[in-house]
Amino acid sequence: MPVLRECVRVADSKMMEKDAKPDGALQGRVALVTGAAKRIGRAVAVRLAEEGADVVVHYRGSKEKAAEAVAEIEKIGRRAVAVQADLGDVSQIKRLIAEAGKQFGRLDILVNSAANFLPASIVSTTEQVWDASLGTNLKAPFFCAQAAAPLLKRSRGAIINFADVGGLLAWTGYIPHCVSKAGVIMLTRCLAKELAPEVRVNAIAPGTITMPGDPPEWEEDFIKRAPLLRSGRPSDVAETVVFLVRSEFITGQVIVVDGGRTL
Ligand SMILES: NC(=O)c1ccc[n+]([C@@H]2O[C@H](COP(=O)([O-])OP(=O)(O)OC[C@H]3O[C@@H](n4cnc5c(N)ncnc54)[C@H](OP(=O)(O)O)[C@@H]3O)[C@@H](O)[C@H]2O)c1
Repeated sequence: MPVLRECVRVADSKMMEKDAKPDGALQGRVALVTGAAKRIGRAVAVRLAEEGADVVVHYRGSKEKAAEAVAEIEKIGRRAVAVQADLGDVSQIKRLIAEAGKQFGRLDILVNSAANFLPASIVSTTEQVWDASLGTNLKAPFFCAQAAAPLLKRSRGAIINFADVGGLLAWTGYIPHCVSKAGVIMLTRCLAKELAPEVRVNAIAPGTITMPGDPPEWEEDFIKRAPLLRSGRPSDVAETVVFLVRSEFITGQVIVVDGGRTL
């Protein structure tokens, strides 16, 4: 009888543990999401936590928002830590990845979400704008991948890069941005070959993604060109990240999440 009671107690405590930490497909995995303090990056970080992952929340300037993201993830029952770095500086990228690996002892998923979106036509493009666009949007994902590759190989992990429909369509007034995001698409293919078979590398090219509080004109303007008659939500992108993380026979691909905009 005491043995039975003990079994019940163990089962009860296991159920309580389960309540606090729901099982998920990514339980025991660790994800690093760059630019995760707010907007899409945050939605991705929280969604990966819902799937069971512990998360390193990278931020550059949004310290308070990063702390909020950490608290949101901890509330789900996962571990999270915020790490600051300016991804324009390769030495800071190396520190970020080393810190990410140290925090939870492994790294399974790298999501390169941080980016800028600088308008610049052929006339207004300065060297500074060109370097800032290409530096944050293209150079940084490469050096994040390079630094994370040994950890990701060990865990047979995955990289998700963020392109943009602007990397497929030539937008007037956004030359460096479009070039940087077109570069992300080729970077994804090159990395997928270089890092196979251990690490899968894919990209997402979102159309306009709106959040609560964004000017309504953004959605109105997008709807004119998107057959599905709405703009995207951060959850549309976050679900695609989860899909790509789980899809073990897909690498080097770009999934366009744009409500049909590029059709
Ligand atoms: N939103 C859209 O409609 C849309 C459409 C197509 C593609 N995308 C792509 O999806 C991804 C996420 O989009 P988003 O709108 O959520 O991005 P976002 O708000 O424009 O930027 C995300 C974060 O990137 C970080 N960041 C910028 N420059 C950095 C640097 N030099 N070093 C480190 N961090 C830096 C910022 O962090 P801090 O705030 O901490 O400084 C920022 O919060 C981006 O790659 C974007 O290009 C978005």
